[in-house]
Amino acid sequence: MNKDLKSFLEGLDSLAHDCESRKGQACSLEELDELRIEFLGRKGKLAQSMGQLGRLDNTDKPAAGKKANEVKQLITELLDSWQVEINAAKTDMALSTFDPSMPGRKPWVGTLHPVTLVMDEICDVLTGLGFEYASGPEVENDWHNFEALNMPPEHPARDMQDTLYVSDKIVLRTHTSGMQIRSMLKQEPPVAVICPGKVYRRDSDLTHTPMFHQIEGLLVDRNVSMADLRGTLTAFVRQIFGAKTEVRFRPSFFPFTEPSAEVDISCVLCGGKGEVAGSTCRVCKGTGWVEILGCGMVDPNVFTAVGYDPEVYSGFAFGLGVERVAMLKYGIGDLRMFFENDVRFLEQFS
Ligand code: PHE
Repeated sequence: MNKDLKSFLEGLDSLAHDCESRKGQACSLEELDELRIEFLGRKGKLAQSMGQLGRLDNTDKPAAGKKANEVKQLITELLDSWQVEINAAKTDMALSTFDPSMPGRKPWVGTLHPVTLVMDEICDVLTGLGFEYASGPEVENDWHNFEALNMPPEHPARDMQDTLYVSDKIVLRTHTSGMQIRSMLKQEPPVAVICPGKVYRRDSDLTHTPMFHQIEGLLVDRNVSMADLRGTLTAFVRQIFGAKTEVRFRPSFFPFTEPSAEVDISCVLCGGKGEVAGSTCRVCKGTGWVEILGCGMVDPNVFTAVGYDPEVYSGFAFGLGVERVAMLKYGIGDLRMFFENDVRFLEQFS
């Protein structure tokens, strides 16, 4: 073999060795690219060796060219295999920085609406006192909503409640009191039921919404007296608003109870003093009392309507507005907050 060819081939071999010895030098894809340029680039080491090819005898050129191709192939394979290693190391790295013991991100969860919270709380207290839960239709007929409750057609008391009519004889219930009738028709005394639910009135301003929630209570048995009513409602109110709450019964009128009363409790904000820090209490307007429910002894005419003998049975009924209790309990000044569904407001009840 002639000398020129020999040194050409040796040059290529040492180039291959040179490349092999650089293993581990490139730790990143960028560094690997630099190596690729150094060896295989247009002005790289292999290209420089190939520049010597022209000096060889024509007869030696095929052998020299073949060798050059082999070395190019070898170097390419080396660089490619390092690239695979670098990529694998990158994945390992990513896995090792992933900590499966880290707490997960909490999904955003909703909360119960304050009206629901108060309704549940009131129902818990009342079922604890022995009342059973009942529910009935929001679309009610005139008889259950009015007539059986001692409000015949043309009765002036119907004007107290601005009724939303579905048709002549069908209404959206204006109160839950129709459930008194439905409960009594279903069973013989003793009856002890509560009925929470939506009611509707044609009324909308700062303190009224066309839909709100009531809870009705009814107890019927032999010898039920006004004292039972007082005792039950006082116990109930103190469980909801606190043991120190004062309760007063103020004479009032409802067609379906006689006698009737409205129940006031000592103001939740000023504690009954009528003022807070020297100025008039905004909740009770300085009176020291806030009204929370209507009640009374079941009117004999109501018993007659459902076929109970008023000479044998007596009973009491009460009805309260849930939004009103919620406003007092949580110190909410504006009724509309309950219906706007502003998450910043609702979140506070989680
Ligand atoms: N239904 C009456 C109202 O909506 C409340 C009430 C219920 C009064 C039961 C007395 C007895 O105002």
